[in-house]
Amino acid sequence: MLGLVAAALILAGFVLFLVKFATADGDFTLTSRGKPKRDEVEGKVVWITGASRGIGEILANQFTSLGAKVILSARNTVELERVKSEIISKYPASRVEVLPMDLASGEESLKESVYKAESLFSSAGVDYMVHNAAFERPKRKALDETEEGLQATMNINVLGTITLTRLLAPYMLKRGRGHFVVVSSAAGKCPSPGQALYSASKHALNGYFHTLRSELCQKGIKVTIVCPGPIETSKTSETSSSGKSRSLEKRVSAERCAELIIVAATHGLKEAWVSYQPVLFVMYLVQYMPTIGYWFMDQIGANRLDAAASKRSAYSWSLLFGHKKSA
Ligand SMILES: NC(=O)c1ccc[n+]([C@@H]2O[C@H](COP(=O)([O-])OP(=O)(O)OC[C@H]3O[C@@H](n4cnc5c(N)ncnc54)[C@H](OP(=O)(O)O)[C@@H]3O)[C@@H](O)[C@H]2O)c1
Repeated sequence: MLGLVAAALILAGFVLFLVKFATADGDFTLTSRGKPKRDEVEGKVVWITGASRGIGEILANQFTSLGAKVILSARNTVELERVKSEIISKYPASRVEVLPMDLASGEESLKESVYKAESLFSSAGVDYMVHNAAFERPKRKALDETEEGLQATMNINVLGTITLTRLLAPYMLKRGRGHFVVVSSAAGKCPSPGQALYSASKHALNGYFHTLRSELCQKGIKVTIVCPGPIETSKTSETSSSGKSRSLEKRVSAERCAELIIVAATHGLKEAWVSYQPVLFVMYLVQYMPTIGYWFMDQIGANRLDAAASKRSAYSWSLLFGHKKSA
């Protein structure tokens, strides 16, 4: 009898685990942490790149709502001013500054940006550097990528981001504290058919920032890398996916993604994943069972290229089935 009860309890626990996993919007460590910790960001200076739209704009809103002073960067000054005035109209007591910046503008220009960011808010200095800006081209085969695409992707996503970090970190080290929050991607953890350059750039960021943490964590520098899967932003709502494919494509909202990024940062997580299934499942597979994970991706690769070419969902279980035209 006792054996039966124990078996029923184990079965119930297993079913509960399966339901939780099937409906999760992030990895278990991240989703178990609850809400962002306000006291970690209140009054702190948070510099966000890519703040003119998408996830960056929402991050700026959410950091402000938690009492942070924010610096908004991107290239489009008009959009940055729009974001600033919308934040101020929502939170009249907020402290928001606009700092236009092009991540591909080279070391001298980025040095100037770092100097300006450090000087804002009575030279308080940057507490959180949120590396959110990125360049991503429409999906295409790896061998169809151009030299121009390669340069643009690497210059913005990798070289500009790393240079900015190298220039800002000495200021943080002098203060003995600083936190880099890197918005990477599921494509930085797993193969991402149709996004070879983007995936390479995000893998590079993961490698750089995990290494940076290992070198500087004992000197007060923290690094949080967040890897989102498909996210619903204004950009994805406007994209060409057909209504049918969009209904198959379950994306985490940009608001929830931004909230989970701030949860990861304020709870001091080293790495966090934000995604629904099936991408979350693939991330776990590739991380913990790479032989099976890479085999799984090999089954999907060509179908995903075909799906992207015909504007069908690139994130559906159905990619496992059907013929592989693009192989
Ligand atoms: N959306 C998703 O489904 C998804 C999934 C996984 C990961 N992510 C990651 O999440 C982050 C935000 O994604 P998103 O979808 O919100 O991006 P987005 O809407 O395309 O916005 C990109 C941001 O980066 C800025 N930017 C682009 N080139 C720049 C440059 N040379 N210098 C400075 N800023 C530049 C853009 O502003 P300007 O054009 O004004 O410069 C814009 O503010 C990215 O790192 C992306 O890789 C997104």
